Amino acid sequence: MLTSAAGISSELSSRFASARRVLVLTGAGVSAESGVPTFRGGGKSAVWKGMPFDVFSSSSMLESDLAAVWEWFNYRRAVLETLKPNPAHQAIAEWQHRCEEFCVVTQNVDGLHQAAGSLDVIELHGNVWRGRCLECGKRYDLRALGIKEGVPGCQQCSGPLRPDVVLFGEMLPAGAFEKAAAKAENCDLCFVVGTSALVYPAASLPEIASAAGAYMVEVNPERTPLSHLCDEVLTGPAGEILPLL
Ligand code: OAD
Repeated sequence: MLTSAAGISSELSSRFASARRVLVLTGAGVSAESGVPTFRGGGKSAVWKGMPFDVFSSSSMLESDLAAVWEWFNYRRAVLETLKPNPAHQAIAEWQHRCEEFCVVTQNVDGLHQAAGSLDVIELHGNVWRGRCLECGKRYDLRALGIKEGVPGCQQCSGPLRPDVVLFGEMLPAGAFEKAAAKAENCDLCFVVGTSALVYPAASLPEIASAAGAYMVEVNPERTPLSHLCDEVLTGPAGEILPLL
């Protein structure tokens, strides 16, 4: 069934009212209305200093130019510092009190779900507010370190830190996908919000939920490769649609 942003179907309202296990998968689009630029969408792809984002956000860049990787993430943190959760993040945070089991799985690294009050958030791609030592693996809260520019060093072993974010060409954090996949297999209602559904393995989570029989709802102004899997496609901005639920 395709539904427009104009209304929430009675089927969805009743599914939502009776759902026991709800999974929400989010991507960059859920933060768009907070002012966080998406990577793709509207036919465009993000470019920074003339390079496509999958080049400067890649594991090979980490090896060849760690300072440039930090420059990009220092810039992203400076942008994020001024931004706040939007009504989409807030609606999702409220939903956690409505059902027995509720889980947010996000590809976003901005921490805005937690800032809105979401408690159970699986971060598939890490978090820009954390750094990790390349030598000893110790993790740091970059807000507490007050890092604004340059490549920070480890206070324990003096090794260089890297952003604790998954870069192109890297594996997801140990256990994160497995935990999310188990939630996807068991949910009875699955929302897919603001993701282009092009990056795997995150994009396979809705496939898992759908194959396991969950009622599938997509919220996105554009269609995606997952739209055909969904029972309802709510076409429009998440910040306008999610609060209607
Ligand atoms: P993308 O930038 O690929 O896709 C953003 C999606 O959000 C698009 O489908 C837009 O149509 C949609 N969108 C835009 N505004 C929206 C709004 N107000 N409400 C709802 N949807 C909206 O972002 P992701 O799918 O999250 O990975 O990208 C996946 C991964 O690719 C990211 O986590 C990142 C990137 O490389 C890493 O950094 C490892």
